[in-house]
Amino acid sequence: MVDQHIQAPDGVRPPPPSLRWDERPDGPVLLLLDQTRLPAEEAELVCGDVPALVRAIRTLAVRGAPLLGIAGAYGVALAAARGEDVDTAAAALEGARPTAVNLGYGVRRAVAAHQGAACGSEAAAAALAAAKALHLEDAEASARMARHGLALLDELLPAGEHRVLTHCNTGRLVSGGEGTAFAVALAAHRAGRLRTLWVDETRPLLQGARLTAYEADGHGMAYRLLADNAAGSLFAAGQVDAVLIGADRIAADGSVANKVGSYPLAVLARYHHVPFIVVAPTTTVDLGTADGASIEVEQRSGQEVSGMYAPHAYNPAFDVTPAELVTAVVTEEGVASPVTGARLAELCARSRQVSVS
Ligand code: MRU
Repeated sequence: MVDQHIQAPDGVRPPPPSLRWDERPDGPVLLLLDQTRLPAEEAELVCGDVPALVRAIRTLAVRGAPLLGIAGAYGVALAAARGEDVDTAAAALEGARPTAVNLGYGVRRAVAAHQGAACGSEAAAAALAAAKALHLEDAEASARMARHGLALLDELLPAGEHRVLTHCNTGRLVSGGEGTAFAVALAAHRAGRLRTLWVDETRPLLQGARLTAYEADGHGMAYRLLADNAAGSLFAAGQVDAVLIGADRIAADGSVANKVGSYPLAVLARYHHVPFIVVAPTTTVDLGTADGASIEVEQRSGQEVSGMYAPHAYNPAFDVTPAELVTAVVTEEGVASPVTGARLAELCARSRQVSVS
C-alpha cells in the first residue's frame, strides 16, 4: 500500500525557536537551535562571536536560505555590539556559504543600517534593528507564501486531497516563520487537504529524514519518508500530485538552485505531468545573476558522501533546475507561472523588502 498514511502522535508540539538574540550581562549572543543534533536533541548552540557563527553556518548547525539571511544580519549586529570591524565580519559571514543568496542579502542589509547611523552605539543598534526587521519580515513573507501556495495547489489540483513530494527541509527551521515549501504543505494540512507529505531523505546530510520528518511529526502531519532513489517509482505509481521545494537562489532567467536532487525531481515531474512548484521569498530571487550557469554551486567535503568507504567523492550541495521545468515560483508577492524573468522582476519590484546593493 504505497499511499498508507503515517499519522504522527496526537497534537501539535511547539518547537523551540530556530534562532534568537539574547542580551546577557557579558554581552549579546545569538542562540541557534543546533540542526546537526536534531532530531535526537533540541539543543541550543551559543554563538558569542562571528567566528563561532561562521562555523555554525559552515557545519549546517544553522541552514536554509531565509534563515541564513537572518543569521547573517544578526552576525553583523553581533560584531557591531562587540566593537569589531563590521566589514571584516561581513566578509567572513558572506563567504561562509556561496549559493544561498539570502545570506549576502541579510549581511548587506545589516551593514547598510550600520553605515547609515551616526555613531558607534547607534550603529550597533541600527544593525540589530535591521536584523530584527528582517526576522519579522521573513515570518510575514512565510505566511503570505503559504496562502498563495495553497491557492495554487487548489487551482492546479481540484481533486481535493493533495499528495505532495518535498525535498530537503524548508519549514520553521529555515525561517522566521513557518518556512517556504513546507509552509504550503502545512497550510494544506491545516485546511484538511493534505493527504500525504512524501519526504525525500535528502542524501547525504539527510535534511529530509532528520529535519522535515521532525517538523512534520511535530505538526501531526501525514507524512512518509522515502529514500531519494525511490522517487521515480513513486511517480510511476501515480502517487505524487505535486512537488513542492524551496530555493537557495533564483537567477534572472528563472533557473532555480536548490538542494542537490531537486533537478532530477523536476525531470521526473515533467515526464509524469506533475506540477513542480518552487516556493521562495523575493529575497531569494537574484536578478543580478543572469542565468543558472552563473550560479556558484557550493562543493562540500567528500566525507559527507563516502564516510569511511571511499575517499574520492563528488559532493555538490545544490543543483540547478532550468525555468522550463518549473511550473511556478510562489513568492510572498504572488506567483510567477510561467516562470519568466519579467514576471520575477515584477514580483521583486512589488516587494516591501529593503533593497541593498
Ligand atoms: O544545505 P542546506 O541544508 O542549507 O540546503 C537548504 C535547501 O536546499 C533548502 O531547500 C533551501 O535553502 C530552501 S529553504 C527555504
